[in-house]
Amino acid sequence: MPKIILIKTTDYEEMSQKGAEIFIEQIKKKPNSILGLATGSTPLGLYKILIEKNKLKEISFKDVITYNLDEYCDIPKFHEQSYYTYMNQNLFDHIDINRNNTHIPNGEGDSKLNSDNYENELNKVKIDIQLLGIGSNGHIGFNEPGTDFDIGVHEVNLTENTIKDNARFFENDINKVPKKAITMGIKNILDSEMIVLMASGKNKANAIKNIISGIVDKNVPASALNLHKGKVYIIVDKEAASML
Ligand code: PGA
Repeated sequence: MPKIILIKTTDYEEMSQKGAEIFIEQIKKKPNSILGLATGSTPLGLYKILIEKNKLKEISFKDVITYNLDEYCDIPKFHEQSYYTYMNQNLFDHIDINRNNTHIPNGEGDSKLNSDNYENELNKVKIDIQLLGIGSNGHIGFNEPGTDFDIGVHEVNLTENTIKDNARFFENDINKVPKKAITMGIKNILDSEMIVLMASGKNKANAIKNIISGIVDKNVPASALNLHKGKVYIIVDKEAASML
């Protein structure tokens, strides 16, 4: 059984702080840590804290290696909303990381080939901490409800729910939101040594309630965390905890 450690915080800032503390401790303990990173609104505060600590020279990313969860297909790598751009703007451009040590799935071209390549890369390493946000429908990475827990990196069709949730990044126009993505599978996520999932806001409350209830159900992808063999930190703000 995994050890789910629930950390209730008051707001987004405190959630970010608690999440950042786990990453800071990890990087101090193991300077060549392998980190699984996430995108979206949730990790922005945590990334800001890591940037600050790096500027203060409290931590260095010189030997840190990163693997991102997912990337959109259908938009170019340099599109302003690609996860490649997001990672540069919100973390990599501001820290002393070696870009050769950063990995993001390739959303351009042949998805099957790109998925297989990323899977092969992941199979050569063991991620020390995997950071996760959670979709309002319970997705992790872009593993939408109904995804089998034992598949690796793959192409997905985003659900209507996710397209609507992400329209805020695309001028609120669902037609502009990519309809496909490449994502680590739940298998890859469960292969990591430790998991840190953060959630903020009322729209995440139901998904959080489902994980904490201990269910394991394909229709709630994040419930797969109940199968993880290591520590799983779930860090929530007041609103995300409102159904617990
Ligand atoms: P968000 O997305 O952090 O932008 O809410 C989380 C997710 O969809 O996994």
